Amino acid sequence: MAIEIIATGRAVPPNKVTNEDLAERIDTTDEWIRSHTGIGARHVAASGIACSDLSLEAAREALNAAAQGGKGSPEELAQSLDLIILGTTTPDYLGVPPTACLVQDKLGAKNAGALDIAAACTGFIYGLELAAAFLMVNKDRKRALVIGTDVLSRIVNWDDRGTAVLFGDGSGAVLIEKTDAPAGGPGGRGLVRTILKADGSGAESLIIRQGGSRNPFKAGDVVAIPPYLEMNGHAVYTFAVKALTGIIERLLKEEGITIGDVARIIPHQANARIVQAAGKRLGIPEDKFFLNIEEYANTSAASIPIALDELNRAGKLKKGDLLMTVGFGGGLTYGGNLIIW
Ligand code: UT7
Repeated sequence: MAIEIIATGRAVPPNKVTNEDLAERIDTTDEWIRSHTGIGARHVAASGIACSDLSLEAAREALNAAAQGGKGSPEELAQSLDLIILGTTTPDYLGVPPTACLVQDKLGAKNAGALDIAAACTGFIYGLELAAAFLMVNKDRKRALVIGTDVLSRIVNWDDRGTAVLFGDGSGAVLIEKTDAPAGGPGGRGLVRTILKADGSGAESLIIRQGGSRNPFKAGDVVAIPPYLEMNGHAVYTFAVKALTGIIERLLKEEGITIGDVARIIPHQANARIVQAAGKRLGIPEDKFFLNIEEYANTSAASIPIALDELNRAGKLKKGDLLMTVGFGGGLTYGGNLIIW
């Protein structure tokens, strides 16, 4: 049996903020941002648009695509879902209710369980494996939606040039289905291998200190600026290059394949230089990696499913292509998936 991605979708807010726009309000330049990160712009959600809104849009796109592929109407597909799993750092509400439940309701997925997972930028990689396992352990389960969404513009300190230039908002979703195809080997399909890792010793490298049970807000507190993401850029950079190279090497070794067998690597889009450094260390040609960071910046849990959808809709993924996702993020978490398209 295989767990196949049968449709993809994405939602990116229309409001595009260029590097030049940012340079008008903070001490930065288009040249610095491009040369240090590869980022040219980011899309920022309008006020009033939250994580569940972007997630719902991406999920509907995925269901519409599956419907066009002859899998039934979008409504029937929604009702056939056994699970909605949403990776996010920026839920609509802090902890309760899970944002996935808001999506479940609006989608009409009345037979689905729904939960959020907090694996930061690695959320989609984690979510795909967890949803696949959920389908595999019970013969009656067939379909799940895996969504990665972040609205990082809400937790970025827009006065801190060290982080403000890096992030953007967006959502990506994939519809997965348990099928009778073989999971690996010749003619194999779908998710064939995943590595999920964590190194909590780096927890403080990416952190929102305020608002949780460690530092809750108390009545009478005066908040100068809202809780925001603090980052040790150098620590994350060093970790990220090591994490990407380690995961790529391990996925190849465990699967008994070489990089030549992989059609494309779809990395988490955090910084083009991180991806280039990992590629250089491993001797992997740059064009093996798909990068769209110039347009969207780092959309955290959304970056890999947005990239997948972009490639898919552009007809750049061929049936049978072996794809590798690889990513890292707060936690620190890291991991990767091997998927036969
Ligand atoms: O999903 C995971 C999220 N996070 C990441 O992946 C981030 C990982 N880290 C990075 O990508 C890089 O460390 C950064 C892009 C954040 C920083 O790049 P860097 O090449 O490590 O720059 P730096 O921090 O060493 O700063 C170099 C200089 C400094 O000036 P001085 O001290 O040399 O005068 C910074 O103050 O660049 C300055 N700088 C900036 N200048 C213009 C830092 N940010 C900016 C900026 N515009 N936005």
